[in-house]
Amino acid sequence: MAVLVTGGAGYIGNHTCVELLNEGYDVIVIDNLSNSSEKSLKRVEEITGKKLTFYKADLLDREAVENIFRNEKIDSVIHFAGLKAVGESVSRPLEYYYNNITGTLVLCDIMRKYGVTDLVFSSSATVYGNPKTVPIKEDFPLSVTNPYGRTKLMIEEILRDLYVSDNTWNIVLLRYFNPVGAHKSGRIGEDPRGIPNNLVPYITQVAVGKLDFLGVFGNDYDTPDGTGVRDYIHVVDLAKGHLKALEKLKESKGVLTYNLGTGKGYSVMEMLKSFEKVCQKPIKYKIMPRRPGDIATCYADPTKAREELGWVAEKGLPEMCEDSWRWQKNNPNGYEE
Ligand code: NAD
Ligand code: UFG
Repeated sequence: MAVLVTGGAGYIGNHTCVELLNEGYDVIVIDNLSNSSEKSLKRVEEITGKKLTFYKADLLDREAVENIFRNEKIDSVIHFAGLKAVGESVSRPLEYYYNNITGTLVLCDIMRKYGVTDLVFSSSATVYGNPKTVPIKEDFPLSVTNPYGRTKLMIEEILRDLYVSDNTWNIVLLRYFNPVGAHKSGRIGEDPRGIPNNLVPYITQVAVGKLDFLGVFGNDYDTPDGTGVRDYIHVVDLAKGHLKALEKLKESKGVLTYNLGTGKGYSVMEMLKSFEKVCQKPIKYKIMPRRPGDIATCYADPTKAREELGWVAEKGLPEMCEDSWRWQKNNPNGYEE
């Protein structure tokens, strides 16, 4: 079975490539390296002792994408490639719509031309907006508050329309909660460009001495300690969810949607304390104003994924923190030497 992984050089794509190779899949990656390094793919090969095929190409380059489908025998596609920074999407909406939506349209059009109709798509918990209650189930109302989130929701709708037009497509939409952690080897992990936007890379960069202190965005939310609560999920658990989704594609037609989360929420202060234990040092922080657009609490009900995919997140918070810290400590500058 050969799987085309778009965005395979990125954080979640990389970890998924490891799991795919370990399970005996042939892996073909397309990535334009706009937010990643080719070194990450070399390390995937080093970890697994197996080779993958890499095309440095942009999904917007139709000819380059078609060339891959002409050269390779592809059975299924896992589609990670996209721009993902919420704040940047507000200041650069056209780039986000063009890259994420047009990239997906080109990909699907060429898949259709070559008769490849099995697709797993990276969606996000962001499509639930500010939910009225938690835990969040897949049938909750959908709403988005920024261009990044809107690209995810639009792509979900485009893929539903595609299935209606031609029900030979099999599509799984995976809505990720907050991916953290890294492979146990400490060789691959999250490598944000510039100052991190997300909590965990920010904390580990403070712990390693690259940043002075963590700004805690608000301590007056309606949560047990006043700071924001999220469902952090280990990236290796998340990666394994994609293999379960691929298996599901083989047995069922239609568009299926699953939350990938643990079902547990942790606050910013709980995360900070957990990292302090693992790093064995205090991590400086300052309480700051709320970040615009943030919500108080977000965590998944992962029952549907357990019942229909046979998938559950196995790794708990200490392991997520240990693995994030090992990656950061061993690679203070990410993939740059
Ligand atoms: P990432 O930025 O590390 O990986 C995305 C990869 O896609 C990068 O390697 C980038 O170079 C590539 N890419 C972007 N546009 C491309 C294009 N036009 N052509 C070819 N390659 C292109 O991000 P990630 O954290 O691994 O996220 C993967 C997917 O999961 C994204 O679609 C993201 O929106 C989604 N997601 C991520 C999170 C998160 O918190 N990390 C949460 C929910 C959903
Ligand atoms: N936070 C801080 N300080 C920081 C960064 C974050 O206090 O420097 C807080 C936030 O206010 C929030 C929590 O830490 O309460 C988590 O914030 P992240 O930025 O790490 O994650 P978000 O939940 O805001 O968003 C992430 C991804 C989105 C995705 C969403 C749901 O960035 O793309 O998870 O999957 F849509």
